[in-house]
Amino acid sequence: MRIGVLTSGGDCPGLNAVIRAIVRKVERVYDGTVIGFRDAWKGVLEDRWEPLDVSRCRGILPRGGTILGTSRIQPYQFPDGVEQVRAAVARHQLDGFIVIGGDGSLGAARDLCDDGVRCIGVPKTIDNDIAATEMTFGFDTAVHICTAAIDRLHTTAEAHDRVMVVEVMGRGTGHIAVRAGIAGGATMTLIPEVPFDIGEVCAALERRHAGMSYASIVVVAEGAMPVPGTMPEPTYEVDRFGHRRLGGIAQQLAGEIEGRTGIETRVTTLGHVQRGGTPTAFDRVLATRYGVAACDAAAEGDWGQMVALQADRIVRVPLAEATGGTKYVDLDLYDEVARPFFAS
Ligand code: F6P
Repeated sequence: MRIGVLTSGGDCPGLNAVIRAIVRKVERVYDGTVIGFRDAWKGVLEDRWEPLDVSRCRGILPRGGTILGTSRIQPYQFPDGVEQVRAAVARHQLDGFIVIGGDGSLGAARDLCDDGVRCIGVPKTIDNDIAATEMTFGFDTAVHICTAAIDRLHTTAEAHDRVMVVEVMGRGTGHIAVRAGIAGGATMTLIPEVPFDIGEVCAALERRHAGMSYASIVVVAEGAMPVPGTMPEPTYEVDRFGHRRLGGIAQQLAGEIEGRTGIETRVTTLGHVQRGGTPTAFDRVLATRYGVAACDAAAEGDWGQMVALQADRIVRVPLAEATGGTKYVDLDLYDEVARPFFAS
């Protein structure tokens, strides 16, 4: 068995754990070879790669980032991209690719399968928004980092009777915000799925702070938006891959809160701290299980699948199904657990 592996899209804690699992399984169980392509599909197109073996992967399990590098380059961005991928398959005599990526990269893997290039997907994103899997690795780590930050913000907010607005990642979904908001005891949590009414937010904070010394933590996902017409809507630049470059909603929200209520308000934007560093034990285990399961699928010739977590079992889901939509926050969880504590 000869497998090409690549890590694609934004990085995420646990990528190295997947690579290590793939290499160990292919080498030790299937007596095969793994080729690691540099910087995702860019390395496939430019023929930049390195042989991966067990000794190369020693010590990488707890390391953040990816030893292979990553990029958002996809073959379909080039007129002859698919041809070049086919040429790489022939040149390296590959059985196929294991693509570790988010929705964009898994979509490309799905299209490549349709074009005759064998791929298996491993779902990756701290945002946890990929359909068909209950968890992507990296998410648990991000939630832990955000929760630890919220814990720290409570004490400084209490000391000054302030509102702290904490911006966390989550471009189209509020999974990180909801979990970290619940775990950190946030006063309120604002997510992309439910546009927020700034009037309600301020009224709730005013009630809470009226005549009492209180601290308030407002967790806001970077992709959260106000109800149209209630306050100026943030605008974002779009990068060359069509991704909105988010960031800044917390600043805007804090300005509105302080301006409307007079309560001193500060901002913390957690940014890429959420994506860096060592994965939690949970993410290491999940990443390892995904890597092993992806190799088994390749060995059985079950291409075109994504490995997924369902009811604590690793299953295979067709890439076409897995990339068919976004997994949004369960609004029952939001309403039942995150919302009742709003400003209470
Ligand atoms: O998709 C994962 C994610 O972490 C988003 O939450 C965030 O908006 C984005 O990546 C930022 O990525 P980058 O800074 O690499 O463009």
